[in-house]
Amino acid sequence: MTRVLVTGVRGKTGVPLAQLLAARPGVEVLGGSSDPATVTLDGVQPTAFSWDDVSTWAAATDGVDAVYVVRPDRADAPELIGALLTGLPAQARVVLLSERQADSSGPGGWAARTEQVVRRSGRPWTVLRPGWFMQVLTDERFYLGPLVEDGELAFSSGGASIAWIDARDIAAVAERALLDDGHEGQVHELTGPESLTLPQVAQHVSTAAGHLVTHREIHLDEALDGLGGFERDLTLWTFERVHAGFFAPVTDTVERLTGRPARTLETFLADSAAALRRG
Ligand SMILES: NC(=O)c1ccc[n+]([C@@H]2O[C@H](COP(=O)([O-])OP(=O)(O)OC[C@H]3O[C@@H](n4cnc5c(N)ncnc54)[C@H](OP(=O)(O)O)[C@@H]3O)[C@@H](O)[C@H]2O)c1
Repeated sequence: MTRVLVTGVRGKTGVPLAQLLAARPGVEVLGGSSDPATVTLDGVQPTAFSWDDVSTWAAATDGVDAVYVVRPDRADAPELIGALLTGLPAQARVVLLSERQADSSGPGGWAARTEQVVRRSGRPWTVLRPGWFMQVLTDERFYLGPLVEDGELAFSSGGASIAWIDARDIAAVAERALLDDGHEGQVHELTGPESLTLPQVAQHVSTAAGHLVTHREIHLDEALDGLGGFERDLTLWTFERVHAGFFAPVTDTVERLTGRPARTLETFLADSAAALRRG
């Protein structure tokens, strides 16, 4: 039996990853969440895991063969992840969900430092660097989801395009990196199959939603409105990279590693039509 802990199991990549792992024979899936009572995925063992509660870590990682680490977007992520990995079994594989361009200077080199603790953990590691998830268009917890429902795609892009990726494709790569050989010491740069401007995204969303959704280019100040501290720094850094076109280049990594093309935005939206039509 291969025992795998999926942190962030209620999140955008955590759900599809846990489903893929649970479908694999001989894999025991621990679904890590700070609210394990809400983990109701078939074949997934709800497991208490919180970055805020170190006392949950030992039981969650006991005897694991692999761990999927969803980077917590907080200033102390490098220290937290470093401490978690120190307690893992020596041979446990670690797959970190990072992001594109993590080497470039973030707030205090934060993203690069987070990857470094994984590389230096002494465990077999793989880093996933995806671009923007298509799921942000429908996630009610992200500022965009409710706006899109109401017909507005308010986004600060500076006219740049983005190679949006379906979180299900990130999960498909993560599944392989957790269970298969050949991914150790690799950094996988992940995108969808095409680079789209925000007006192009709005057109696709309109078609799928059955009502007009228009892109409104917002100033960076509006994107940062109400944010403070580290969250503001991180958001500013992210949108500056959007404007600079860092999220535009397309990679073929998903197809190379999974043997099938990355999903298009049209496919994602068709699969999400019910959620989009709610408004
Ligand atoms: N979103 C993007 O476009 C994007 C792009 C590149 C990289 N990333 C990176 O990927 C990581 C994950 O980011 P994300 O924004 O996509 O987050 P996410 O995976 O959707 O969720 C992250 C956490 O939110 C909590 N959560 C999930 N579902 C919830 C729900 N229904 N209600 C309340 N809480 C819920 C979960 O923890 P609990 O179960 O413990 O509450 C989960 O670990 C971050 O490091 C981010 O920087 C994101």
